Amino acid sequence: MAELGFEVLGVDVDQSKIDSLSSGRVPFYEPGLEDVLTRNLAAGRLRFTTDYAQAAAFADVYFICVGTPQQATSNAADLRYVDAAVETLAPLLTRPSVVIGKSTVPVGTAARITAQFHALSPAGEAVEVGWSPEFLRESHGVEDTLNPNRIVVGTDSPRVEQVMREISASQIARGIPFLVTDLQTAELVKVAANAFLATKISFINAMAEVCEAVGADVIQLAEALSHDDRIGGKFLGPGLGFGGGCLPKDIRAFMARADELGVEPALSFLREVDAINQRRRARTIDIARGLIGGSFAGRTVGVLGAAFKPNSDDIRDSPALDVAATIGSLGARVTVYDPEALENAKRAYPQLNFAHTMVEAVRDAEVVLLLTEWAEFRSADPDELGKVVAEKRIVDGRNALDPDHWRAHGWTYRALGRP
Ligand code: UGA
Repeated sequence: MAELGFEVLGVDVDQSKIDSLSSGRVPFYEPGLEDVLTRNLAAGRLRFTTDYAQAAAFADVYFICVGTPQQATSNAADLRYVDAAVETLAPLLTRPSVVIGKSTVPVGTAARITAQFHALSPAGEAVEVGWSPEFLRESHGVEDTLNPNRIVVGTDSPRVEQVMREISASQIARGIPFLVTDLQTAELVKVAANAFLATKISFINAMAEVCEAVGADVIQLAEALSHDDRIGGKFLGPGLGFGGGCLPKDIRAFMARADELGVEPALSFLREVDAINQRRRARTIDIARGLIGGSFAGRTVGVLGAAFKPNSDDIRDSPALDVAATIGSLGARVTVYDPEALENAKRAYPQLNFAHTMVEAVRDAEVVLLLTEWAEFRSADPDELGKVVAEKRIVDGRNALDPDHWRAHGWTYRALGRP
């Protein structure tokens, strides 16, 4: 928002994050974000605080961007952070204001929150609510925010629509589609998009299972499918499957909400999408175990990758760490390397060993698993790694390497869905 020219005050309850951001440090790894942060701090358009009252005195428009993780005890979304933001902000709004939700929420939440603002705010119904879901991908966050492929605004208020048109004017002028819907459709657009993306990944991973049964090659299959532009090649990458803070919890929360709405059968296929995805993790472990003779007990394993995807330090529901931890629990000595996610991984998985280079992670390994497709791993030299491993065996969990190249350098190469 500051980069687009607006005066912005960012609010968070975590003082350490506010301190870090105020001094120009992004408290997580996101390519390009530090430049945008420091440029806009220096321009005076961007400040940070933990003080809601300051925000309420300052702003005309509020964006709610807090997380909605999965509940610990069910598939449903945990709305405590959204609720806390609403309950803290609402009593402070004395002037007509526009509140735009960006958090991913179960359909129906925006209507409930609208009623809460009307009930709790001194400004009453002059607080108007819209919902504008966020479609950015981690690791492409800056680009996706400045140049989104669409802007969706759910509202029945002409004023909210007008404000969002003003805020998005430079993007609309560049031809970015701007769609206005009712609140519930906007909420659904977000979860439907993530459900579709998860389904596409699990579709190709289901094909990988079939390919393995008959000795076919899922990479060739995916490429041949991709030339049909009704299918397309994006999100058709077979391998270890999806993780992260979004797709897994969003499909589960969507199923939970469908259940509450009495349309559970409509989304029962997402259970299968989730199950296919989980099976990829188990299959990767099975392939590695097979390569070392059937048991991990007392064996040495090198793992390349900890983040849920490359160019991120996010380890939430990371398939790589899930696989690494399971292999560790089966008795192997597992050493993990990741270019950016090591600190987060160490905190969450103290039982694993961590190395600060790729070569150190695979030293003496009897099998190597590539589980996050960082560029550094894609371009790894099979001879360089071959010199330090105990046995030249690699499981390419992301179909990131050229099998012929690695086999030509003496490696036993295995991947999901390929002969
Ligand atoms: C996802 C969506 O792509 C965004 O549009 C959405 O805004 C975001 O969730 C969100 O809800 O906030 P993100 O979680 O950052 O974005 O990551 P993706 O790029 O979607 O990747 C998700 C997972 O799928 C990763 O673990 C990745 O390795 C895996 N994946 C992706 C595959 O296994 N195969 C593919 O072909 C593509």
